Amino acid sequence: MGLRVAQTGFAVLVLLQSCAAYKLVCYYTSWSQYREGDGSCFPDAIDPFLCTHVIYSFANISNNEIDTWEWNDVTLYDTLNTLKNRNPKLKTLLSVGGWNFGSQRFSKMASNTQSRRTFIKSVPPFLRTHGFDGLDLAWLFPGWRDKKHLTTLVKEMKAEFVREALPGTEQLLLSAAVSAGKVAIDRGYDIAQISQHLDFISLLTYDFHGTWSRTTGHHSPLFRGQRDASSDRFSNADYAVSYMLRLRAPADKLVMGIPTFGRSFTLASSSTDVGAPVSGPGIPGRFTQEKGMLAYYEICNFLQGAIVHRILGQQVPYATKGNQWVGYDDQESVKNKARYLKNRQLAGAMVWALDLDDFRGNFCGQDLRFPLTRAIKDVLAAE
Ligand SMILES: *[C@@H]1O[C@H](CO)[C@@H](O)[C@H](O)[C@H]1NC(C)=O
Repeated sequence: MGLRVAQTGFAVLVLLQSCAAYKLVCYYTSWSQYREGDGSCFPDAIDPFLCTHVIYSFANISNNEIDTWEWNDVTLYDTLNTLKNRNPKLKTLLSVGGWNFGSQRFSKMASNTQSRRTFIKSVPPFLRTHGFDGLDLAWLFPGWRDKKHLTTLVKEMKAEFVREALPGTEQLLLSAAVSAGKVAIDRGYDIAQISQHLDFISLLTYDFHGTWSRTTGHHSPLFRGQRDASSDRFSNADYAVSYMLRLRAPADKLVMGIPTFGRSFTLASSSTDVGAPVSGPGIPGRFTQEKGMLAYYEICNFLQGAIVHRILGQQVPYATKGNQWVGYDDQESVKNKARYLKNRQLAGAMVWALDLDDFRGNFCGQDLRFPLTRAIKDVLAAE
C-alpha cells in the first residue's frame, strides 16, 4: 500500500515535471546590432535564464557549406554561447536561411546528392567550433518541387547528427521554421515525414496579414475573426496549429510562434476598424526603419496618445493614431496565446524576436526587460 502510494506519487511527479518542461525558443537577429541608439542589440543583452533555446539568425550557405553572414558573426556567436557559462541548461542553435536568403539556393543545394552531402558534412564541425547545440533550418519557403528534397535533407542531416555524436557528447539538435500559411504548408512540406527527424518545429504563426493587404487586419490573430472573408479562415494561429496536428506533426514537437512585433498600415479614410481600406504600409519605426512593421518597444512609444482596441474574437489588440493602424501583441495577448498552446499540449512557444521585445526595459515602463517574452515564460512556468 505504502509502496503503491509512493509509486503513484513518483509517477505524478514525473508527469508534472514532463508537463512543466515547455520549450521557450527565442530568435535573436544579428542585424539588430545595426539599429541606432537604444535599438541596437547584441547577444550579451539576452537574459541567459529567459529562454530554453536561443536561435541565432541567420547563417549563409556558400559553396554548399554553412557559412557566416555578418562580418562579426564569429564574435557574436561567442558572446551568445558564453551565456551558457551562466546557465548551462540553455541550448543555442544556429539558423540557416531566412527571408532574404530565399528558397532558390536551398533548392539548388538540396536537390543534388553531392551538394546536399557537402552541406550536411559542413554543419557539425561549424556548430561545434562555434559552440552551438544545434541547427535550425529556415528554408522560406520550399516550392512543390522541393518537398521531397527538403524531406531528404532533414532525414540525412539527422542521420549525420546521430553518427557524429561521440559518446560523452550531446547529439546536435535539429529544428525547422515552418510557414503557418495553409497554401505554403501544402506546397512545400511533408509534415509527417520531416516531423519524424526534427527535434522540434517552430510554426511561424504571424505575418498572416501585412503590407501586401488592401485593408487593415491583424497579422497574428489567435482565432478567426468575425469579419474574415471565408477565404481567410486559414489566417490565424488556431487554424495553423490544428492543421499541423491534422498533418501528423506530433504536438510534443510543435512550437507555436508568438511575435514581439506588430504590422502597421496607413489608413486611406477616416475608418479605423479592422477591414478598413489602407493606402499602404505604416510609416517605419525610428529604430527598425522598415515600412509596415514596428518592434514592441516602438509600439510602446506609439501607444502614447493612441487609441487601443481589442479584437474580441481574435483575442489580440490593435492601436490607431492619426492615419496609422498597428496590429500587435501585448502582455495580455501573449499570455493568452501561451495558455492556448498549453491547452493544446504543444511543446512550447517560439518568440520572434528577442531584439524586438523591450530588451532594455526602458520603453514600455515597469522597468522590466523582455516584458513579452517574460510574460510567456510566466504562463509556461505556471501550474
Ligand atoms: C552568401 O553566400 C553567397 C554564395 O557564396 C555569397 O555570394 C553571398 O555574398 C554571401 N552573403 C553574405 C551576406 O555573406
